[in-house]
Amino acid sequence: MELPPRPKLFDFHGVSMTNYFTDNWENVQNFKARPDDILIATYPKAGTTWVSYILDMLCFGHSERQNLVPVYERVPFLEMHIPSFPSGVAELNKMSTSPRLIKTHLPVQFIPKSFWEQNCKIVYVARNAKDNAVSYFHFDRMNMAQPEPGDWNSFLQRFMEGKMVFGSWYDHVTGWWEKKQSHSKLLYLFFEDMVEDTGRELDRLCSFLGVSPSAEEKENVRERAQFDNMKKNNMTNYSTDTAMDFKISPFMRKGKVGDWKNHFTVHQNEQFDEHLQKSMTETDLKFRTTI
Ligand code: A3P
Repeated sequence: MELPPRPKLFDFHGVSMTNYFTDNWENVQNFKARPDDILIATYPKAGTTWVSYILDMLCFGHSERQNLVPVYERVPFLEMHIPSFPSGVAELNKMSTSPRLIKTHLPVQFIPKSFWEQNCKIVYVARNAKDNAVSYFHFDRMNMAQPEPGDWNSFLQRFMEGKMVFGSWYDHVTGWWEKKQSHSKLLYLFFEDMVEDTGRELDRLCSFLGVSPSAEEKENVRERAQFDNMKKNNMTNYSTDTAMDFKISPFMRKGKVGDWKNHFTVHQNEQFDEHLQKSMTETDLKFRTTI
C-alpha cells in the first residue's frame, strides 16, 4: 500500500505530535475503558513490543493465535489513526478478549479519563534517555510513518528540546513517575532491569497481574521473549509492517543497554549530561546507562 509523505511535527496542547496520533482525538478521549483492561504505556522505543509480547503470553498462555497474528494487532495502539489502516479505537471496540491489552505512547496528561475511572492496571516501561534517543533515531530513519530524523546531531538536539513525536522524553518519564503516587495500580518498569534480569522482572509482572504460571511456563515465556527469538519471529519483529523499511534498519535492532556509546561523541555526551541534569532536578527518578 502506498503511504502518504512522511508526517510533519506540530505542537498539540504543548506536546509535539503528528496527525497520525491526533486525528482521532475525540474518539480517543471518549474511549470507554473496561475495568480489566491493561494499559501498556511507554515513550516510543522504551521496550513496548517486548513487554506487550510478555503480557500477551502471561495473560493468554502460548496460543496458536500468537503464531498467526502480529503483536501490534493483538495489542492495539490506542491513539493510532493512519489512513487506510483501522484505527486503534475501532480495533479495541471490536475486541471481545478479556483482558484487552492496550498500547499507548501518550504522556500521562493525555490518557482518556475512563482509564482512571475504571482504575485499570497500567504497566509503564522507561528506558534511559541516551539509548532511547539512539533507538528512536534509527526507528525514524526506517519508519515512513514518522517525520524525517535528519542527521544524528540535529536529531539529538531536537530530542533534548522535546521536538519528537509524543513530546519530551523528560516530561514523559517524570509525568508517569509522579502518577505512581496517586494510581496504585501502576507498575513502573525499566528497560535496563529487564535486560539485566528478565526472569526477575517477569516475576514482578506476574505478581502485579495476579497470575501464577508454573516455573516451566515462566521459563518458556522468558525464552520466547529473548531478543534473538523475537527478532526471528515474524509476529514480533514487525516484518509485516508495510511502513517500515528494514533495508535501512531492522525494528529489532540491537536490544542492548549502552549502545549510545557507539553514537554519542564526547562533546554530545557532555552536552546531553548537562541538559539531563538540569531537566531532572525536580524528580527522584534515576536511570542506568550501563549495566
Ligand atoms: P534498539 O533499537 O535499541 O534495538 P519499542 O517496542 O518501544 O518500539 O522498543 C524497541 C526497542 O526495544 C528496540 O531497541 C528493540 O530492539 C528493543 N527490544 C525489543 N524486544 C527486545 C528484547 N526481547 N530484548 C531486548 N530489547 C528488545
